[in-house]
Amino acid sequence: MLSNKWSLLSTFVLAALKPVSAAIAPTGCVTFDSSWNLLAFGFNGKDYNAGTQDTWGSGTATDITKSGRPPFNAANTTCYLSQFNNAVYVLNADNSDSSSVFVYDVVGAAWSTQKVTKGQFDPSNFAAILDHDTNVFYAYSNAVIYSLDLGDVKGTASGSAIPWNDVQSPDLASHADNSAVATPGANTAGYQPVVALAQNHIHFLGVPTLQNGEAKIFVIHFSYMQPAPQSYGTPAFPNAHGKAVSFFQPEGKGVQTEFAFIPDDGSATYVVNVVSNSTKGLAGPPKGDPLATYSASTTALVQLSSEGKVSYLAYDPASTTSGGTWASISKLPTATFSTSSGTTSGSSNGTSTASSPGSSQSGKSNPNNGASGSQNSGAARVDVSVVVGMAAAAAMALIGATV
Ligand SMILES: *[C@@H]1O[C@H](CO)[C@@H](O)[C@H](O)[C@H]1NC(C)=O
Ligand SMILES: *[C@@H]1O[C@H](CO)[C@@H](O)[C@H](O)[C@H]1NC(C)=O
Ligand SMILES: *[C@@H]1O[C@H](CO)[C@@H](O)[C@H](O)[C@H]1NC(C)=O
Repeated sequence: MLSNKWSLLSTFVLAALKPVSAAIAPTGCVTFDSSWNLLAFGFNGKDYNAGTQDTWGSGTATDITKSGRPPFNAANTTCYLSQFNNAVYVLNADNSDSSSVFVYDVVGAAWSTQKVTKGQFDPSNFAAILDHDTNVFYAYSNAVIYSLDLGDVKGTASGSAIPWNDVQSPDLASHADNSAVATPGANTAGYQPVVALAQNHIHFLGVPTLQNGEAKIFVIHFSYMQPAPQSYGTPAFPNAHGKAVSFFQPEGKGVQTEFAFIPDDGSATYVVNVVSNSTKGLAGPPKGDPLATYSASTTALVQLSSEGKVSYLAYDPASTTSGGTWASISKLPTATFSTSSGTTSGSSNGTSTASSPGSSQSGKSNPNNGASGSQNSGAARVDVSVVVGMAAAAAMALIGATV
């Protein structure tokens, strides 16, 4: 009887905690331009250029907010540098348009919106890389690998919609050798994708049944999933969920050959070199943050935390072998991330019809509002504290009744 009540209590507590983390999923992103200026998008309604790594310690970032930008009001925003084109592609930046790719042309400082036909691709559940050489996105979503060809888009959206194409249902099983016959969809059940690009290969990490330090490899140019996993030596990164991002090579030096992997617990940063098949163990980020997102230049790994803070780990591929120190980039403001909850019916153009506490009509006073306006998200936070308060009250009532 008592144990039933305790499990009921823990259900209340879990129910209370869950929406808190959901409310702070990043609705902005950080990335680089081709000159390795750090760009931050969706920071309290603004976008910033924080300059190159040598300048991150002081001063203030340049406001680069331009019209035509997406509202940055959707969860799981991710952005990607198209190095050849000096353009940034942003996914999940508008909660009223989950399929479009928002294109920022760095040189022209101009936004355009690429319409996309999503087909079976699920924008709320995927992990993607942007292939360096072909400018094609590859994404794993619900056990299928999809591609989206931005080859003609470059720095400006094209007029017609482009499709996510179904490439294959991969076999993620750990086969003993490469002569194994593939079984489409094998070992994909429950897999939460973690993908990293290096040497024109997509590395799938945290795949069930793989050993620590192993990855399944998809060879992009042959659309071929290698049956046997590749091992990357010691220190072996944990075969766990996390985030991964590739270090770029300087312009003219070709495709990425190293990627960083940060397990969700933030216990370490692993840098994997796919030429030497080796791994370096570096310092983990300031704290474990499964919702944090990452970007990398040629010499820095940058974290955008779910609390909206930006920090970085300097990395010299030639000389960094272990350790390192994360430093915060105070040049950028702290972003406030929250997404709209089901209790508001505001639109993304700033004409919110919400009447919940904290909502604003004009949106001008909303820290999350951008040049193009966005719905106030203060209501989501209020709702969360109400949920927490109600659950706490229920839990107390339960304790009172029990004791
Ligand atoms: C954000 O990502 C989480 C984890 O994959 C997912 O559960 C959630 O539905 C996503 N939300 C949106 C709006 O894409
Ligand atoms: C890395 O592993 C691949 C695949 O097993 C192999 O072809 C390559 O020779 C290895 N590289 C080195 C430097 O050992
Ligand atoms: C804002 O969006 C709403 C809903 O889509 C629409 O009815 C309204 O006309 C829009 N207002 C402006 C000023 O664009």
